[in-house]
Formats: sequence, structure tokens, C-alpha cells
Amino acid sequence: MLDRRHFIKEMALLSGAIILVPSITSCSGKPGRASNDPLALPGAKPADWDEIAFNTKRALAGAAPKSYHGAISGAGGDKKHVGKHLPYLPKIEKTPDGYLAVMFGDESKGYARHPNSEANADLEDTGHWYDYITIRKATDDTAEEVKSAYSSWPKISKADNGQYAVFSGKDITANKGKETVYLAALPKDVKKGDMIRIAGHCKNHGEWVNYFTL
Ligand SMILES: [Fe+2]
Repeated sequence: MLDRRHFIKEMALLSGAIILVPSITSCSGKPGRASNDPLALPGAKPADWDEIAFNTKRALAGAAPKSYHGAISGAGGDKKHVGKHLPYLPKIEKTPDGYLAVMFGDESKGYARHPNSEANADLEDTGHWYDYITIRKATDDTAEEVKSAYSSWPKISKADNGQYAVFSGKDITANKGKETVYLAALPKDVKKGDMIRIAGHCKNHGEWVNYFTL
């Protein structure tokens, strides 16, 4: 049984172990979108929340590209494709102040782990990773939403406010990039014990959401 409690190797941040004050993109407001919009994200976690059912329906309504709908609806698509894209919070002993460690595809729930791969212009391969993560307090009231950007992988771009770390081992590209930890900026109005909403956008497969208590 894999021990899931790993330290991030003394902030083994690939960008040079420095967390700069991020130029965080944030907006403050109500959850947004009209309630009849099939892409709307509930502000507070719905009482009958079903992460697979909600994300499957939303993906097929347009949150995921049409080219991925067949895989989502196919045999085992719930775990191999929907579950694989859902954000979760890995057990990390220490993360930089103001950041949350996020991964995608929780194998403890039987989901496939989401890989990450590098763009390669020579092969006309645009790569595969999450290009943004938004975090917001899970509430129907007004709350700040912070968006962290990741415009390249395996190295973060200077202009981005997200950061990467490695869950297990030292090489972020090992194991098809599945050990990648995304460090996403937390809104200032979020504290321990709060429930948050996290949405992550896979550049190839669309946006996926889940709720967690910190
Ligand atoms: Fe993906």
C-alpha cells in the first residue's frame, strides 16, 4: 500500500524553490451564470452532490470538448475519464503559505490518475496538463475567486502564478507526469475548516469541479 503522506521535498519546486508574490487573477462576486445555464457551478456544495454525475452531465453540456464525449459516455468512462479529471487534495505535510496542493484523479476512489505531458512542436503535440485552477469559498454569498495559471509543463512560465511540485520522487516527468502536484493560490478569505470549490481546466479535456473542506 502506497504511503500517501509525502513531504514535498523541502519545497522541491522546479522553478527554483522561490515562491514569488503571485500576480493573482481574482474576482469577487456571486457564483455566477444564470441558474438555468447547464455550465453553471453551484456556489455552495449541493446537499445531493454526486461528483461523477454532476461532472458527467456538465461535461456533456459543453464543459468538455465534443471530441471527448464518446470516452466519457463509454464503458468505464466514469472512472477512466470523469474521475481521472476530478481535482482532489493529496495528503502533503507542508505546502507553501497561501497555496493549496491539488492533484487530479484520486486513485483511492478507483479513478485513473491524470497524466501530464509536454508540448512538442516538432511532433505537433500541444501537450496535456491543467492550464488553470480556480479556488473559491463554497458559498452562495459573494466570495473571492482566485485563478492560478499554468501555461506550460513541466516548467512553470514566469508569467504564471501557479507552481508545480512533485508528489513522489524528484522527477516531475516520471510516471507519465502523474506525480505532478499543482500548487494553486488560495483566496485570502479562506481559512482552515472552510469548504472550498475547486475547478481545474485540462487543456485537452475541459473543466472539472469538486468541493473540499480544508
Ligand atoms: Fe486531460
